[in-house]
Amino acid sequence: MALYLLLLMLTACAAVPQDLSGKMFTFPQQTNTAQVRLTTSRQVLGAVTVCLRSFTDLRRDHSLFSLATPSVDNDIAIYVYANVGIHFTIRNKAVLFGGQDYKLNTWHSICTTWDSATGLAQLWLDGKPSSRKSLSTGSHISGPIKIVLGQEQDSFGGGFDINQSFAGMLSDVHMWDHVLSPCQIQDYASDLNFPPGNVLNWRALEFQTEGRVLLEDGQKNCS
Ligand SMILES: *[C@@H]1O[C@H](CO)[C@@H](O)[C@H](O)[C@H]1NC(C)=O
Repeated sequence: MALYLLLLMLTACAAVPQDLSGKMFTFPQQTNTAQVRLTTSRQVLGAVTVCLRSFTDLRRDHSLFSLATPSVDNDIAIYVYANVGIHFTIRNKAVLFGGQDYKLNTWHSICTTWDSATGLAQLWLDGKPSSRKSLSTGSHISGPIKIVLGQEQDSFGGGFDINQSFAGMLSDVHMWDHVLSPCQIQDYASDLNFPPGNVLNWRALEFQTEGRVLLEDGQKNCS
């Protein structure tokens, strides 16, 4: 009976969302295995905002966020092209936000928005807007959805390439099913009050790590 109760608690705990406030995921080495899988029950998205913070010293291309569905491997992707800019992909269609001040060895806040009604996408790096650009219009993302941090999916939940992997630290991952207002995005960037993600919420995150990824305390400035 005791063992049964313990097993019941363990399985229950695995599904319980965790509050990761003040924490970060550390990817200490380049691999094609280390990853964090984020879980959402949402299956249809007609608009999105994804925000996260990242820190890396990678000089090569790397993935920051990878969302796949069975029919579209890059349904949502945020991907850094070294020395070129940041690629934002929706439903396998990408736009490049060039000329971004994406410095190495620096924490950055990165938000991307897209709305299928207008087809417009935008990147916000450290609270600063990009040009608004055309992406997919009309068609919705429709799941089931697999979201991976640390690797870039070339198939549904797999197809990883070490040369596209992320190494460094990631934190404060949120995703909404609508476009946040410019003021809300700037509040996120400044660590002020903002409405937590209603698709992914860092303060109540359902996730699983695989391979060498560590959940650690964040390294805040001392004051
Ligand atoms: C990754 O890049 C390195 C250096 O360019 C190359 O030698 C290696 O073959 C690449 N690995 C894969 C799996 O593509």
